[in-house]
Amino acid sequence: MKVLIVGSGGREHAIAASVAKSPKVDKIYCAPGNAGIGQIAECVPIGAMEFAQIVSFAKKEQIDLTIVGPDDPLAGGLVDELEAAGLRAFGPRKNAAILEASKAFSKDLMKKYHIPTAAYENFDDPEAALAYLEHTRMPVVLKADGLALGKGVLICRTPEEAREGVRTIMQDKKFGSAGNRMVIEEFMTGREVSVLSFVDGRTIRIMSSAQDHKRAQDGDQGLNTGGMGTFSPSPFYTEEVDAFCRKYIYQATVDAMAAEGRPFQGVIFFGLMLTSEGPRVLEYNARFGDPEAQVVLPRMKNDIIEVIEACIDGTLDQVDLQFEDNAAVCVVLASDGYPGSYEKGYPISGLENFADRDGYYCFHAGTKQTPEGIVTNGGRVLGVTAKGPDLKTARANAYRATEWITFANKYMRSDIGKAIDEA
Ligand code: AMP
Ligand code: GLY
Repeated sequence: MKVLIVGSGGREHAIAASVAKSPKVDKIYCAPGNAGIGQIAECVPIGAMEFAQIVSFAKKEQIDLTIVGPDDPLAGGLVDELEAAGLRAFGPRKNAAILEASKAFSKDLMKKYHIPTAAYENFDDPEAALAYLEHTRMPVVLKADGLALGKGVLICRTPEEAREGVRTIMQDKKFGSAGNRMVIEEFMTGREVSVLSFVDGRTIRIMSSAQDHKRAQDGDQGLNTGGMGTFSPSPFYTEEVDAFCRKYIYQATVDAMAAEGRPFQGVIFFGLMLTSEGPRVLEYNARFGDPEAQVVLPRMKNDIIEVIEACIDGTLDQVDLQFEDNAAVCVVLASDGYPGSYEKGYPISGLENFADRDGYYCFHAGTKQTPEGIVTNGGRVLGVTAKGPDLKTARANAYRATEWITFANKYMRSDIGKAIDEA
């Protein structure tokens, strides 16, 4: 079969690498892809938001399955448009992608269906939000309602900061129309865990857990990023935590979406916080996490195409999802300065070290193929992933592999997976 993957990051490279392992697949295309994806797929110069071109390409090439990676095209209804053209697509339709695209929607859903999450209020009006802050305990969390590249969350320690935050989101519109509404939420403390799942509208199958590192610098200092590294599984995701989430969160979310007339087919990413009162949902994403996918998918034993087809056909109950009994760590190699301003266009060397090396992966995020070779082309450049029998070995392997790569202004955190020492 012919598969088209939409997107251009490390997540899409990890998806493409899994798809390439399937004996069912003859040819992979990626729109628009990147230099690394181009080594296993044919990249086509169509942007992820160019829906009409994606649909006409998929029709012309008789694509059997389109996998949509990023949040924006999902929220915009790319899956609906592909389906309307009679094409098979993996990912939630627009009316279900709202689970990620509107934080106000997801908070109301959790409240209505008693899914554990932080206490909150939604606001359309900045004056009402400011009035509410008058009698709110600090710290408090402000969230722009819409998609904001993971940046629309402000944790405010003082009333002044919180008032300033309301203005930033709702009046200055720092996150654009994402800030037309906002959520004001109780601040929680605890460890964070990412749990990805496959969903077919009714049935949910949980993938192995992971932990992201969102801040730019060691010791969780510096600005929030798209993610500087991950490990899987999380040693803090215990059997007890899993049992709680299965009882109160996972199936409850799938059932809630179905009951609202928004059956969810695709990947639900549960961003969880393990608080002293038990696990709570921090956020939902309607797609694979990035870089979570880069440590979870390499450990999945199933043929990803079979799992995806079961999600589309509503037969996920017949799938036994299995993961290797090992661990993986991903260290992101970024351009120095990210997530602020950074330079790009520098040649990358050492990529050949990963060829045919079992258990090592170099997923491309911001790279570009030029006549002179592959060059840096983004803030997050590469995701270096290594497996190992346990987390510590996987981490040592991943950091060793980061040394195989050189490019000007290479930057990485040196403490990805440090938390596992405390487990
Ligand atoms: P989100 O995009 O909703 O995952 O938020 C981004 C990050 O902000 C999360 O990964 C948490 O670290 C933090 N965060 C979000 N909501 C809360 C909360 N209610 N309490 C404490 N931290 C939070
Ligand atoms: N790593 C977090 C995300 O994909 O949103």
